[in-house]
Amino acid sequence: MNKGYRIAVIPGDGIGPEVVDEAVNVLELLKNIDLTFNLEFEIFEWSSEYYLRHGEIMPKDGLDTLKKYDAILFGAAGDKRVPDEVTIWQLIMPIRKKFNQYINFRPVKLLRGVPSPLADGEDIDFVIIRENAEGEYSNSGGKLYTGTERELAIQNTVITKAGTAKAARFAFEYAKNHGNKTVTSATKSNAILHSMTLWDEAVEAVSKDYPLITLKSYYIDALAAYFVSRPKDFEVVLATNLFGDILSDLGSAVVGGLGLSPSANLNPEGEFPSMFEAVHGSAPDIAGMGIANPIAQIWSAALMVEHLGREDLAKLVVEAIEDVLVKAEVRTPDLGGTSTTREVGAAICGAIKRKWSLVDAVRRSHDD
Ligand code: NAI
Ligand code: MG
Repeated sequence: MNKGYRIAVIPGDGIGPEVVDEAVNVLELLKNIDLTFNLEFEIFEWSSEYYLRHGEIMPKDGLDTLKKYDAILFGAAGDKRVPDEVTIWQLIMPIRKKFNQYINFRPVKLLRGVPSPLADGEDIDFVIIRENAEGEYSNSGGKLYTGTERELAIQNTVITKAGTAKAARFAFEYAKNHGNKTVTSATKSNAILHSMTLWDEAVEAVSKDYPLITLKSYYIDALAAYFVSRPKDFEVVLATNLFGDILSDLGSAVVGGLGLSPSANLNPEGEFPSMFEAVHGSAPDIAGMGIANPIAQIWSAALMVEHLGREDLAKLVVEAIEDVLVKAEVRTPDLGGTSTTREVGAAICGAIKRKWSLVDAVRRSHDD
């Protein structure tokens, strides 16, 4: 038996716990069907509820605790009783930043069985690589003259040559390893004079090491339009923290919505655990109703399985999701169905079992 991977599970707020339950069920199933794949879960109830009870959203040594795990499966954080500043800046951001998860990896792929809202939306399949540790999401800046007519706010964007180069190298390596011919960089260096010109220079410098891959650079506003008018042209899209965040919601909309969009916060060097979460938030409007689509979270768990070295099992999960979508019998309301979160999770587990028994039968026939 392989060494077990230790997974820290943080279900969080709103629909987080509902969809994380289904993702854990899928992971438990993978463990049971493939005895060489071993996972151990530890659940951490760090959430807005926890904050309201303890005055902090995670214990002081929370990051030291998480550091010992091989990966983190995260639901969502956000609750109207608690300022987003707490959920985002005291939970999500510290994990992403302290664990140097400088890549946010978001597949934008139209799954089989899902119609795109675009007339010409078939075969959309690209990835967004978002710089995840610096950029526009910084706590550098401040306010002056608060409460007066002269009140002003300064919010600094932090772009470093080294940070940009690391994200760019990840994007080019990904393109190289996946047979892609282009990397598209989102910029705005015409209007954002200092930070975005440095971004452009750093990306271009890295591109020189990859003569077989073409670097395309588009202004973010035009690029947003191209996501709608010609999404099939993209293979790997590289963007700053804010641009990547917005582009990935747009990307998710053209392939069926937030209920289907997974993400990974990666520390590519493996010095710290990486974190896997759906693109969506805590969806307070449907929380507690049992109707959230668990597919984004289950797919995020599959990205985690791939990160842990089992691309085969990750593929099995994504194909099982597609089987369920193609059959179109079990769907949550966001996809026009009437099924519950649990029913979709169970249908995906059923499809995984069916697929696995085929894989297993083929393997046994080879062994005979
Ligand atoms: P949201 O992603 O939570 O919801 C946007 C819309 O999409 C809502 O109508 C929601 O019902 C729907 N939706 C989202 N996920 C769905 C799913 N799995 N199945 C079906 N429908 C789904 O974004 P919103 O409303 O802007 O933010 C709500 C809270 O979540 C806020 O407190 C926000 O700060 C937080 N948030 C947290 C994130 C995280 O934990 N990484 C990311 C985004 C938002
Ligand atoms: Mg977002």
